[in-house]
Amino acid sequence: MSTTVVVGCQWGDEGKGKLVDMLSGQADLVVRYQGGDNAGHTVIHDGQTFRLHLIPSGILYPGVMCILADGMVINPRVLLEEMAGFREKNVDLSELMISANAHLIMPYHITLDKAREERLGKTQIGTTCRGIGPAYADKATRSGIRADALLDDDILERAIRTALEEKNLLLEKVYGQPPLKAEPIIESYAEYGRLLRDHIADTSRTIHDAIADGRRVLFESAQGALLDINHGTYPYVTSSSPLSANACVSAGIGPMTISRVIGVVKAYQTRVGAGPFPTELFDDVGETLTQVGCEFGTTTGRRRRCGWLDGVALRYVARINGVTEWALTKLDVLSGLEAIKVCVAYRVGGAKVDRFPMTVTQFSASEPIFEELVGWAEPLDEIRHFDDLPGAARDYVKYIERWTGIPITYISIGPSRDQIIVRER
Ligand code: IMP
Repeated sequence: MSTTVVVGCQWGDEGKGKLVDMLSGQADLVVRYQGGDNAGHTVIHDGQTFRLHLIPSGILYPGVMCILADGMVINPRVLLEEMAGFREKNVDLSELMISANAHLIMPYHITLDKAREERLGKTQIGTTCRGIGPAYADKATRSGIRADALLDDDILERAIRTALEEKNLLLEKVYGQPPLKAEPIIESYAEYGRLLRDHIADTSRTIHDAIADGRRVLFESAQGALLDINHGTYPYVTSSSPLSANACVSAGIGPMTISRVIGVVKAYQTRVGAGPFPTELFDDVGETLTQVGCEFGTTTGRRRRCGWLDGVALRYVARINGVTEWALTKLDVLSGLEAIKVCVAYRVGGAKVDRFPMTVTQFSASEPIFEELVGWAEPLDEIRHFDDLPGAARDYVKYIERWTGIPITYISIGPSRDQIIVRER
């Protein structure tokens, strides 16, 4: 496996968790490189169910080191809750490391996230209200608090008091909210520091040394490429970069160290929150995808918007991530549909466009032009070999490969770990 990046290639919720869980068994180190507890997935491991937001599921494999890298924003309260859940189930956490450079999500980030969304009203982004955007904003304005502050009570107290001077002004004067008291925040974060200090480390060095020693490193993104702060459907994006290249920036390693980029793509398209979505379905097929695919968010429980696979966007995300292979997920959900459509171009203002539009205004005005493929009736969940798939399902897989020029090496056909078809590379 050497150094592999697993990157979501739609608007998140592509089913990365299951693939990462499977690949973690073949890794020495698993590194989560961006986002915070806005992400979420459920992993079933040895019959036990784990709901994860921050910690890579690699922790469930003895001997696999798991790292929360520099590019993350971490709510220590959520992290400690997750750790407690693992301890209850006797999972060893001694190999969990948090980068000293990772930024902390503070209570005022969450209050501000909610207040900003309320203020935006109808034009809101539909964030997860976990404080992600405000925490990354503080990082960019150099007023954030990093995990290393948890190692020193005096530094921590000063940082919190300084931050609150500004945040309370914002809360009171701009958002009409009551100010936050410093003492309870200082007390709770000092306690988080005591509980987490043994896990805080120079993780860039650890990752670098592991690669130099020929150990197998797996990088996992959260969210998806179309939610990328630079290349996604801005402003309807998250506040960090899920793109594969950011694995290097976040972990603190050079770009030539990555040998494999696995793009995870659902067999259809989903999106939570607001923002343009040209292939969105508002009919019975959309409803079927929602229900059969259980398309409800793990973090917020929100219903996901569903639509046909957007082939134009797929070529775009392949390009911006340098995808070397695909993992196609939830193919089983399409069983029973008479026809399956793939968007192969957009119509924008009367013109046919076959590239991802340059502006989000054009993308918002894009009407999909579809190519129709034949569906299949048979359930796929018991199938373990590509050749045993119904002909129409194989044709759909081959169609995506031809369309993107990239092989599909994993096909997920159900939620369990063994419901996956692995193909030769
Ligand atoms: P934030 O990341 O909470 O600021 O939310 C920004 C946008 O990203 C919203 O549209 C969210 O619904 C979306 N988003 C954030 N995390 C995820 C995720 O893990 N899956 C899918 N969408 C997400």
